[in-house]
Amino acid sequence: MWKSRRGHTCFIASTMSLLALLMMVLYGFMNSLQADDQQLLQTPLYKLDPSWPKNPERFTGPVFAVAVNPLSGLVYVAQRGEGVPKVLVFSTDGDYLMSWNTTTLEMPHGIFLANATSLNPTVWITDVGDGPYGHTIKQYSPKGKLLQVLGTAGKAGSGLDPLQFDQPAEIFVDESGEMYIVDGDGGKNNRLIKLSKDLKIVWMHGEKGQGLAQFNIPHSVTVDGAKRVWVADRVNKRIQVFNSITGEWLGTWGSCFTEDAPYSVRLTPNKKYFVVVQLNTNQITLLSAPPVGLIDQCKVASVIQLAEDVKPHLVDLDYNTGALYVAEIGAQQAQKFTPFSLGESFL
Ligand SMILES: *[C@@H]1O[C@H](CO)[C@@H](O)[C@H](O)[C@H]1NC(C)=O
Ligand SMILES: *[C@@H]1O[C@H](CO)[C@@H](O)[C@H](O)[C@H]1NC(C)=O
Repeated sequence: MWKSRRGHTCFIASTMSLLALLMMVLYGFMNSLQADDQQLLQTPLYKLDPSWPKNPERFTGPVFAVAVNPLSGLVYVAQRGEGVPKVLVFSTDGDYLMSWNTTTLEMPHGIFLANATSLNPTVWITDVGDGPYGHTIKQYSPKGKLLQVLGTAGKAGSGLDPLQFDQPAEIFVDESGEMYIVDGDGGKNNRLIKLSKDLKIVWMHGEKGQGLAQFNIPHSVTVDGAKRVWVADRVNKRIQVFNSITGEWLGTWGSCFTEDAPYSVRLTPNKKYFVVVQLNTNQITLLSAPPVGLIDQCKVASVIQLAEDVKPHLVDLDYNTGALYVAEIGAQQAQKFTPFSLGESFL
């Protein structure tokens, strides 16, 4: 009896230790699973290309904006400063090609490559300077010849006819020539304006505030393939979405920006992610783009943490390769990030 009892105890003990061992193995396994899961979640969708550009010494001032011409493989970089060239042109491979000889640019803010997929691209630059050429949006040829000026040079204002701006922040021009302008970067206006090709107002939201379709420093604008306009509403720490045809308010994303405001808004070429930079927290944040017909809430897909004081400001994407270019005010440079493939196409 005692013996069998002992055997029983022995059996229990060995079962217990086996169980313990099993649990330890299982625990380790679960832990490693969890670690893998976390690693997957934290795997950046983009990685820095430290070899771009080959001549970083060409950056001589705070860099505010970038724009890519995917067909000709050119990257336009806008920088500020006394006596520095305001626009530098690099190849997507990182070669420095030229700077623009332009005296008509004071303080470039946003830069946009219009008609990027055609043989007739042009470069649009918003100018927030308050000198004789400021408060305007300028269209340049790819080599820097001034083609058109929107707004009233040297005069900040809110007029619509003739057009006036006050520190216009960014412009998006679609293939048909219709324009979406966010005005502005801290002046008296807080407007999202849609202009026809012949510069007539199609619709506008022009009120400062925190309500729906009101703005406080509308800072960046893009239009997706589903007729939706996305605006980084900076001081309100949100992105607002509108119907590009009617101007109707469609939704707001705020929950991702409790710590810092979105400064940029651009879509990856595969239309899966919005790229938003947050200047004060030095982050590049990729948000999952919602399906057509739904705005829903924002979801963070991936975050790239930059060093302190890099101060990313605005971004652009190469529609041929998916590469991401980031303009950095604090680091006084533009940087290139290339997509990790992860089995998914970025195009
Ligand atoms: C810029 O202007 C200077 C002086 O006018 C001239 O020497 C130079 O060749 C110009 N550069 C370009 C790229 O046009
Ligand atoms: C875009 O390019 C096409 C073809 O080159 C041209 O006809 C059209 O006017 C351009 N649109 C804009 C907005 O520049």
